[in-house]
Amino acid sequence: MSAKKNIPERKKILMVATEAVPYVSVGGAGSVMGHLSKALVKIGHDVRVFIPKFGSIEEDKYPLETIYEGLKVPTNDTNTPELICNIKKLVNDAGVTFYFLENQEYFEKRANVYGYKDDSVRFLLLSRGVIEFIRTGIFVPDVIHCNDWHTGAVPNLLKTTYKQDSIFDDVHTVFTIHNLAYQGNFDHRHMSELEYDDGSSDIPSFFSPRTESLNFMKRGIIYADAVNAVSKSYAREILTPEFGEGLDKILLPMKSKLFGIVNGIDYEEFNPLTDTMIEKNYDVRSLDKRQDNKKALQKEFGLEIKDNSLLLGFVGRLDYMKGVDMAISVLRNAMKEYDIQFVEIGAGDWSLVEMLEGLVKDFPKRVGIHPYPNFTLPRMLFSGCDCILYPSRFEPCGIVQIEAMRYGAVPIVRNVGGLSDTVENFDTIKRTGNGLVFNEFSEFSLYGQIVRAWELFQHKEVWRSLQRNAMNSDFSWEHSAQEYDKLYERAITLRIQNKEKDKTMESIVS
Ligand code: GLC
Repeated sequence: MSAKKNIPERKKILMVATEAVPYVSVGGAGSVMGHLSKALVKIGHDVRVFIPKFGSIEEDKYPLETIYEGLKVPTNDTNTPELICNIKKLVNDAGVTFYFLENQEYFEKRANVYGYKDDSVRFLLLSRGVIEFIRTGIFVPDVIHCNDWHTGAVPNLLKTTYKQDSIFDDVHTVFTIHNLAYQGNFDHRHMSELEYDDGSSDIPSFFSPRTESLNFMKRGIIYADAVNAVSKSYAREILTPEFGEGLDKILLPMKSKLFGIVNGIDYEEFNPLTDTMIEKNYDVRSLDKRQDNKKALQKEFGLEIKDNSLLLGFVGRLDYMKGVDMAISVLRNAMKEYDIQFVEIGAGDWSLVEMLEGLVKDFPKRVGIHPYPNFTLPRMLFSGCDCILYPSRFEPCGIVQIEAMRYGAVPIVRNVGGLSDTVENFDTIKRTGNGLVFNEFSEFSLYGQIVRAWELFQHKEVWRSLQRNAMNSDFSWEHSAQEYDKLYERAITLRIQNKEKDKTMESIVS
């Protein structure tokens, strides 16, 4: 039978994740949920997103309708055999339906999305919760699109515990790796051999201590019909020991179901010509107006108001993976030699906050930091800074560099993961390329590109052409949504082929 025949034109897609903009957003995955879903609706699919109803999701701002009460989610525990949840719903302006899994104890009462000792229980509840939701028949998708380790149990449970349930006969799974470094509620780099999870055992009771060491990332990869990483380069890199985080050996034989699709941004939401969060609107033809935004940014962060300073910025999670530590050390040297200012926005690791505070002390009026999450300040930064630093040790995709380019801020990035796929090194002679790129993760290499930025910045016409190239780059979700569409088709085809293979095997054996 041809698999193609079974692929519906208009697909029913259910994305499962821990976050989705604008309701709850911690990292880039939340932005992917919010924007990819919209782009997929635009090309004709029926797309729904399933996330937990965290207490921080403001119901007075987002009116949610309760559509199901008393959803029983089995736990495999004899004392508490099930957890009870409600399902709430909202349809956004783009026509995407969002379902929220409500549970007081595990979601509503927690101030944060991540970081609890029982995160494995919380996200098992999400995973099994979405399966039980589908069993109500309210929405039976063609594809469940799972994201990161928090949802890795979904493909696992569907291929084991729920294997015989006919409602799932035509439900296929895609598993997206946003960051291979997080594989479950444990640090895989410091795992004792006794706790090692090969991914094949049954998922125990929710409350068994064993769930804490389950490698849900590995399980998602093993059991999903198709797997993808958030850029082509990252999809290649994770097959190597350097970037594979211990899973390269599992991934290598699965190469035929592993794909790479680069993230995009929403070009309507991120538009310097219409953005109401910035001082002065502009586009690629009116870049001079950025000067006013630079001034506003300098004022906001208490920096000296100076157009000739090269203003560098960093936006994002303060995480060692992003190379923030190296950037601080390089800045400390570069700022002694050049008229450079620096602004940081974003929360994270406290040791990095301390390092940043040290930099502020050393260079008052030249460094400004806001080490907390913030929704509007990043736009102010994109529209007013000259460059964005992104010197990551590894980077699955990275979204900030794309947002920055849209606003004419030149990205200085390491040639790794999604940064390689989105930023091309500027060729000063040919005037091609949309950013400044270095190869080695080393202070020398980053320093070199900062000096280069400084020099190019002195030649306004050359600098303008670099800015224009950045602004003219197109990483809209429209293109990547088409790629996801193909990936969903691939998942359907692969599953049908595997089922047929299984049937043949059965008939040979019996
Ligand atoms: C993770 C990755 C980041 C990626 C984002 C969205 O946060 O670290 O590189 O852009 O997920 O896929």
